[in-house]
Amino acid sequence: MKIGTHLYRTIWLADDGWRVQVIDQTRLPFEFATVALSTVQEAAEAIRAMTVRGAPLIGATAAYGMALAMRTDSSDKNLHESALLLRQTRPTAVNLAWALEDMRAHLHKCPPSERTDAAYARAATICDNDIAQCRAIGEHGAGIIKRLWDETKRPKQLNVLTHCNAGWLACVDWGTALAPIYAAYDGGIPVHVWVDETRPRNQGASLTAFELGAHGVPHTVIADNTGGHLMQHDQVHMVIVGSDRTTAHGDVCNKVGTYLKALAAHDNGVPFYAALPSTTIDWTMGSGSEIPIEERDPRELTHIAGRTAAGSIETVQIVPDGSAALNIAFDVTPARYVTGLITERGVCKASRVGLLGLYPERAKEAVE
Ligand code: MRU
Repeated sequence: MKIGTHLYRTIWLADDGWRVQVIDQTRLPFEFATVALSTVQEAAEAIRAMTVRGAPLIGATAAYGMALAMRTDSSDKNLHESALLLRQTRPTAVNLAWALEDMRAHLHKCPPSERTDAAYARAATICDNDIAQCRAIGEHGAGIIKRLWDETKRPKQLNVLTHCNAGWLACVDWGTALAPIYAAYDGGIPVHVWVDETRPRNQGASLTAFELGAHGVPHTVIADNTGGHLMQHDQVHMVIVGSDRTTAHGDVCNKVGTYLKALAAHDNGVPFYAALPSTTIDWTMGSGSEIPIEERDPRELTHIAGRTAAGSIETVQIVPDGSAALNIAFDVTPARYVTGLITERGVCKASRVGLLGLYPERAKEAVE
């Protein structure tokens, strides 16, 4: 994606050829800063502290974290311990576990002396594959947007609501939920995006709004509670969200608040889609109730950061001293509220049958 005149991915190798460069997403939208990761510990901390976030990008960072680990010690012991360290950073997005298992399986086959090169090459492949998958998701999703636009003949614009950030910042490039929006916009469809602010960390207000603005896509930030009202007044023509883990039965786990949008969409007859690469599907899980849901520091809820009129970034407290706060980071939208899943292989029903229609080779793994 372009920032100014420069084409960026969210993760790349530094000029020295080994350090891993990422965008510090905690400083957006006010500052576009990059950080170089030199050790597996730094990669793990970048994931834990959400310097990088978003399911596919967490997986890509973990893959490069393994490459950094192999650089210092390519023994079996370090392979195991580094994977464990990275795995423990965030529990919900399955791309993390998927990428680590892919790296482990790949590196186990190599003698220790070849593991560093093999790890860098494999991490690069994971990134390239993610880009290809997201681009394909964009094309399939844009088809839905175009059909909706043609069918509805809206007078002015097609309003898409999204939650959190499932754009290029959450992936390596393009994004999942935002990829169809970029493709439709680039294809001449007048899309406008309602951007849920996405409390408590405001990934919508800070990251999605930043991305859409950089691409020139018209958008409006709304409080998380506004979507239902807009749907009741025919101001939302479709919802597209990302996913951190989708079960084999089509339940969709995504940033907390997604479920309430799905309920409102269902009540108002608004199509509700989740866009996800197959690396986000957990074939071993049937019900979304089995998914481990991350609980984060309550301080993310009790405090808020922003730019002052003088230009400095400050954090302020917004609840009374002593009030307890509960910071649940994800929720599960049952498959029955999901109109369809947009994957790199096409669009399917949110069900085991639907998913296996696109991924028949997974039939043995996919839990009944
Ligand atoms: O906590 P985050 O910012 O990592 O959560 C991100 C989301 O919930 C995204 O919607 C999700 O990763 C979709 S994948 C592009």
